[in-house]
Amino acid sequence: MKRWTYLVVAAVFLIGGALTIALAQSDMVKIENKYPKDLKKPVTLPHKAHASTITCTECHHTWKKAERKTPQKCAECHKAADKGEKGLKRAYHKQCMGCHKDLKTQGKKTGPTTKCSGCHPSKAKK
Ligand code: HEC
Ligand code: HEC
Ligand code: HEC
Ligand code: HEC
Repeated sequence: MKRWTYLVVAAVFLIGGALTIALAQSDMVKIENKYPKDLKKPVTLPHKAHASTITCTECHHTWKKAERKTPQKCAECHKAADKGEKGLKRAYHKQCMGCHKDLKTQGKKTGPTTKCSGCHPSKAKK
């Protein structure tokens, strides 16, 4: 085979690989951590819709893509039992609602800012 044929074959594999990684990401990500008291139903994040317009590291704020293929779970660093600033619930609320509120202030299209049921399905379904 000529050199360019190898190059074409290599390119096809590279593109294929990139597509596989893109497709492997789920549309929806269920956020379901165990808390000392589970008061709310788990949150389903429309992950793909977010990831298509927002930079990955804006949410996965410690992720160094060169070092690992997938980001660490938030709960590896922010603990569910920690009720303080760095605790898991606060981290999620601050990140999710924080961005939604900022966008609302700017008059942009956004997600739920305060309405609990915008993210947590209502209890009745449990
Ligand atoms: C709006 C915030 C946000 C953005 C933007 C975002 N993610 Fe996520 N992602 C999350 C959250 C929250 C989770 C759930 C984390 C957990 O369970 O600890 C998650 C989970 C994941 C997971 C594991 C779960 C799965 O089934 O896919 C991967 C892989 C991932 N994200 C990759 C990415 C990549 C790659 C990008 C950029 C193209 C990205 N994320 C952009 C918030 C985000
Ligand atoms: C590798 C550990 C690690 C991971 C994984 C991680 N964080 Fe953090 N996070 C930190 C540390 C340390 C801080 C405090 C220092 C800073 O601001 O960077 C922080 C700060 C924050 C803050 C700001 C808190 C404040 O009071 O200003 C938010 C919000 C946050 N993280 C949300 C998240 C979310 C949501 C995820 C998952 C998508 C996540 N973090 C994943 C370690 C982590
Ligand atoms: C950096 C900004 C940003 C962050 C962080 C963010 N969002 Fe959003 N979110 C958006 C924007 C922008 C929209 C509006 C998208 C649209 O409708 O075009 C949205 C929409 C939504 C919607 C409504 C989707 C729909 O179909 O109506 C939900 C639910 C949501 N976000 C949940 C979350 C959760 C849960 C988190 C935290 C894990 C989160 N978001 C973090 C920017 C953000
Ligand atoms: C923008 C989305 C969003 C909105 C709006 C929101 N939350 Fe959350 N909330 C989350 C996410 C994401 C988690 C993390 C869930 C996990 O770790 O399993 C969470 C976790 C929690 C937890 C801890 C987990 C549990 O089940 O006990 C409580 C309590 C909670 N939220 C209450 C509320 C209340 C009350 C409101 C309304 C005032 C509200 N949330 C509005 C996204 C949201």
